[in-house]
Amino acid sequence: MIVVVQKSEKNNNNANKMWGGRFAEKPSDVMEQINASIHVDQRLWAQDIRGSVAHAEMLGKQGIITKKEAKAIIDGLNRIAGEIERGELEFKTELEDIHMNIESRLKEMIGEPAGKLHTARSRNDQVATDFRMWTREAAQNLIARIEALQDTLGDLTDKHAGDIMPGFTHLQAAQPITLGIHLDAYAQMLNRDKTRLRDCAERLNKCPLGAAALAGTPYPIDRDYTAEKLGFKRPMVNTLDAVSARDFAAEFLFCCAQCGLNLSRLAEEIILWATPQFGFMKLSDQWSTGSSIMPQKKNPDAAELVRGKTGRLNGNLIQMMTVLKGLPLAYNKDLQEDKEPVFDSYDTLILCLEATKGMLQTATFNTQAMLNSAEMGYTTATALADWLVISLGLAFRDAHHVTGRIVKMAEDKGCKLDELPLDDMKFVEPRITDEIYKVLSVKK
Ligand code: ARG
Repeated sequence: MIVVVQKSEKNNNNANKMWGGRFAEKPSDVMEQINASIHVDQRLWAQDIRGSVAHAEMLGKQGIITKKEAKAIIDGLNRIAGEIERGELEFKTELEDIHMNIESRLKEMIGEPAGKLHTARSRNDQVATDFRMWTREAAQNLIARIEALQDTLGDLTDKHAGDIMPGFTHLQAAQPITLGIHLDAYAQMLNRDKTRLRDCAERLNKCPLGAAALAGTPYPIDRDYTAEKLGFKRPMVNTLDAVSARDFAAEFLFCCAQCGLNLSRLAEEIILWATPQFGFMKLSDQWSTGSSIMPQKKNPDAAELVRGKTGRLNGNLIQMMTVLKGLPLAYNKDLQEDKEPVFDSYDTLILCLEATKGMLQTATFNTQAMLNSAEMGYTTATALADWLVISLGLAFRDAHHVTGRIVKMAEDKGCKLDELPLDDMKFVEPRITDEIYKVLSVKK
């Protein structure tokens, strides 16, 4: 018996400093590697310190630790924040994650009272709190970038409010529209992306702190106090839910993916419009690349990457949803896989929004080519059919048929609809008068 105790005491020096009390051996290298998340979650450092400061304040206020201890902890945490900001603190893999790296540094710095910070708290409610704060701020930042892109689109919409282009269905010229209207459609989509992010930030804004590992804690904590200090609307109601819910992360990822999808549609149009075949727009040199073999080429790489990065954004959403599928309550280590996709989608979407804004701000639109294309595409054919209905009382199906024959005639003659002589049109439908020309030009 004595021998066993001595043996484990001896080996215990190797075990994890933060939770190794019952461990005789240190984890294997691979265990350490698969377990560590510090390379990812160090991005939560500011939220982690803010959360710990609020928690320590609350512990002091409630008399769970002394005011003096709380002050020592808070001063230490603030000094650590400075160290991290200046890049002075070296994070250690063997300390697993940001929470234990910071706490361990606090112990080095202030000694004994550091051990009291984790009273009435678990890493489970700690990380959930940090991550909600981070995501809340990320959503706000994305909203600001979306608004900046909307401003750019708004300027272009005003500038091109009267510039005619073909509107497309099936990527075939359909009816004349304006470039302003076309660009404004994207501003409207972005508006929904924005409000979706706002909803997400609003819904996630409840505080898990106080749930501890899963079942709450026997100390007389004040959850309202910490929730308010950290900018949350109120504490989360159910402690199991508080530590295991990540639907906020999935929702954030969907918001990013959907915004990325919208941007990819605009990117696709930029790519098409910038081809010599369309010739609707030119990207600036700043936002194009050359080919190493074909000197004539100017490639829209930024737009292609905005289109391509939807793969990442969609993938991150699927990753999160797959981690959550079938996961029993409450906390499971699987949940540590939640941050990487969220950080990546955030970074990716910021980049896509900025690149789209930059491309649009410096692009030039060839409005003459757009007008020509609208005229060549018989885009006023629907207006012609409507005239037959309104002026001659034809049924729309009959008007559609008559119009089809007139379009065929113009096509055979190689002319625009408004260049087709009245007699030709009368040949198809004798009641047509020259009033028809009022609706045949795209400008009308
Ligand atoms: N690094 C962990 C995570 O991100 C923190 C929570 C750890 N909790 C635990 N019971 N091991 O999920």
